[in-house]
Amino acid sequence: MKIAPACVLLLSGCAGAQSALDADGPSALAIENLIFLFLAVCGVAFVLVMGVMTWALVRGRNEPAGRPQTERSMGRVVAGAVVATFLVITFLTAASFYATPSLDRGKADPPTILVRGQQWWWQFSYLDADPAKTFQTANELHIPVGTDVRLRLEASDVIHSFWVPNLTGKQDLVPGRENVLTLNAAKPGVYRGQCAEFCGLQHSHMALLVIAEEPADYARWLDVQRGLATAPTDGEAAAGKLVFMSKPCAACHTIRGTEAVGTTGPDLTHIGSRSTIGAGLLDNTRGSISAWIADPQTLKPGNNMPLVPVTSEELRQLSAYMKGLQ
Ligand code: CUA
Repeated sequence: MKIAPACVLLLSGCAGAQSALDADGPSALAIENLIFLFLAVCGVAFVLVMGVMTWALVRGRNEPAGRPQTERSMGRVVAGAVVATFLVITFLTAASFYATPSLDRGKADPPTILVRGQQWWWQFSYLDADPAKTFQTANELHIPVGTDVRLRLEASDVIHSFWVPNLTGKQDLVPGRENVLTLNAAKPGVYRGQCAEFCGLQHSHMALLVIAEEPADYARWLDVQRGLATAPTDGEAAAGKLVFMSKPCAACHTIRGTEAVGTTGPDLTHIGSRSTIGAGLLDNTRGSISAWIADPQTLKPGNNMPLVPVTSEELRQLSAYMKGLQ
C-alpha cells in the first residue's frame, strides 16, 4: 500500500518544472533521448541476466548431484559475457560522446550572455558589439524562443554548475576558465534552474529562472533593461533613493543613472522587474525587499549582504524605491 504514493512521487519527477525528461529544446532533447537509450539498453541487459540466472538456478536444482560443468563450457560462457559487456559499454560511450556536442552547437554570432556564478547568485551580462547596449542583470535570464543563445560560463569564487533541465544539460562554471553552453527554448515559458554543484552553505538557494519569450517581447525587454533606472515617481520612493545613496548600499550595488556604482552585489537598475530576490529565495514584493534588507543573514545565512542598520520608515522608503525600479 505504501508503494503507490512512492511511485506517484517518483513519477512526478518525469514531467514539469526542472525535469530532464520534459525537454523543451534541442539540447535537452538530445539528453532525454540519451537517458531513454541508456534505460532501454540497461533494461534489456537486466532482463537477460535475471533470465539466465533463474534458468541456472532451476537447472542446478534438477540436475543429478555430482555432475560438474566442464571447464570448457564455463570458459565459453565467461568469454561471451565479457565480449557482450565490452560491446554494450562501447556502444553507450559512443552514444554519450555523440550527444555531448549538442550542448554547445557553436553557431556563428548568436546572442551571447556572460554568466558569472558567485556565492550564491547568478550575474548575467548581455554582451553587445556596442558597449552602450551591454547591461547586467541577476538571477533571471531572458532569451528569445527558437534561437540559439550562447552562454559563456565563468565563476568568481568556487565551482558552480548551470543546470536548467528542461532546456539543456548541465555545465560547470570553473574559476579561471571559460566553458560554453548553447541554450535554445522551443516554446515560450518560464524554466527553473538550479546550481548543480555543491558550492557552500547556500548552494540550495542558488536558483535561476530562464524566461523564454517571443522575439518581439524579448526585444521590448532588452530595450527596457538597456535603459537607465527610472526616476522615483512619488515622495516615498524619492526618500528611499536618498536613503539608498547615503547608506553603504551604493558601495556594493549599481543602479545605472545614479551615483550607485558598486560591483560586489547584483545590479539593481531594474530590480523591480524581476520576479524573485535572493536568487529565487523570495517573491519580489515590497514586504520581502524590506525583510531582506532588515535581516539578510537570517534569511540566507553566510551570504555577502551585510546588515545595514535602518529605521522602519527608511525600510518602507527603500522598498518603495526599489520596487519602482522597473
Ligand atoms: Cu553555486 Cu551550488
